Amino acid sequence: MTKEREQKVIWTRKDLLGLEELSKEEIELILYTAEGFKEVTTRQIKKVPALRGKTVVNLFYEPSTRTRTSFELAAKRLSADVINIVPESSSVTKGETLIDTGRNIEALRIDIIVVRHNCSGAPHILARSVKSSVVNAGDGWHEHPTQALLDMFTLKSKLTRIEGLNVSIIGDIAHSRVARSNIWGLTKLGAKVTVCAPRILIPEGIERMGVKVTDNLDEALKDADAINILRMQFERDEVLAFPSKIEYFKQYGITKERLTKCKKDIIVMHPGPINRGIEMSSEIADGANSVILEQVTNGIAVRMAVLYLVSHAKRI
Ligand code: CP
Repeated sequence: MTKEREQKVIWTRKDLLGLEELSKEEIELILYTAEGFKEVTTRQIKKVPALRGKTVVNLFYEPSTRTRTSFELAAKRLSADVINIVPESSSVTKGETLIDTGRNIEALRIDIIVVRHNCSGAPHILARSVKSSVVNAGDGWHEHPTQALLDMFTLKSKLTRIEGLNVSIIGDIAHSRVARSNIWGLTKLGAKVTVCAPRILIPEGIERMGVKVTDNLDEALKDADAINILRMQFERDEVLAFPSKIEYFKQYGITKERLTKCKKDIIVMHPGPINRGIEMSSEIADGANSVILEQVTNGIAVRMAVLYLVSHAKRI
């Protein structure tokens, strides 16, 4: 995005809850802001004072390695104070509601709550109940906006643009908040998105989100500039409806053999954690086309941008 264009966009949102409600310009503003913070993350002293005096609370009701850690690092690199609340060892175990937890945290004079929850819409309820900013770190099957933003940031840094790219999202679309956020973001930025999965893992009506749908992996790979491979969520019962993990890998697993039929420089992404030998072979996960660890690294700059923007939102 050009500087001229960026200056026309003003961030006014207290919260970041999803990409569905964001305009193309707002998404571009986050990616543009993240570019500046990416430079900060490469310095010897990886710190700027942008959020000095502010406090960020990580409130994760579901397990996380990448998202929680990179939100913590992002906040620290902006000079914010960070508190991590683990529901299993908090008063949530005594029955305290999400709203009460949020209001009590807010009474401690904090500024931003980053929340992950197994219920779709939980961050939205929290955002309506507190004056602090709320950032969605993944809610049920609904959205995972910062994951999609870091996926798009990585794509743009590898291929210089999003508009016109063919991006295929492969795997458990039905249960995937990553898929939904990517679809909203990529289509708004002008990419052509295909979703590919066994029929049982494709939600009805997904075409209405402006994507092409197929259960044929070769078709999804044929013209793809990038593939985003989703995790099979074996912790959810419905996934067991697929005959077996071996059968899934045979039909939908990304292998070296399959990749040789794709564009030579195809970008391979995965939000993690990977099930090696199910969604893809290890030689693909660790191979030359994989940007999986770059995605993780870029997550810090993208989350710095989100924390910065919600904290400096112009209230109108
Ligand atoms: N991609 C992602 O959300 O990973 P974590 O569950 O480890 O945060």
